[in-house]
Amino acid sequence: MNHRREIIICLGSSCFARGNKSLLKIIQRYITTHGLGDKVFFKGDHCFGDCSIGPNVKIDGKIYNQVSEENIHQILAEALQDLKK
Ligand code: FES
Repeated sequence: MNHRREIIICLGSSCFARGNKSLLKIIQRYITTHGLGDKVFFKGDHCFGDCSIGPNVKIDGKIYNQVSEENIHQILAEALQDLKK
């Protein structure tokens, strides 16, 4: 795959307050640590409209719900596994 991948973190107030504030930093660190800065677009967006099952993160159009500090690494590793050598 040669197009840039996209990670969108919900920065709506509910998701932000419930964990995405720290997930933002964790995802940023993950991208840097794995040298993915030129392969992945990472940005924040407004409420996805699914607050009750948040915190939410979208990767390549797929929404992951109830994302936490415990499962974010697993989610990123699986979603982006083809990018790593
Ligand atoms: S604040 Fe994230 S889905 Fe509403």
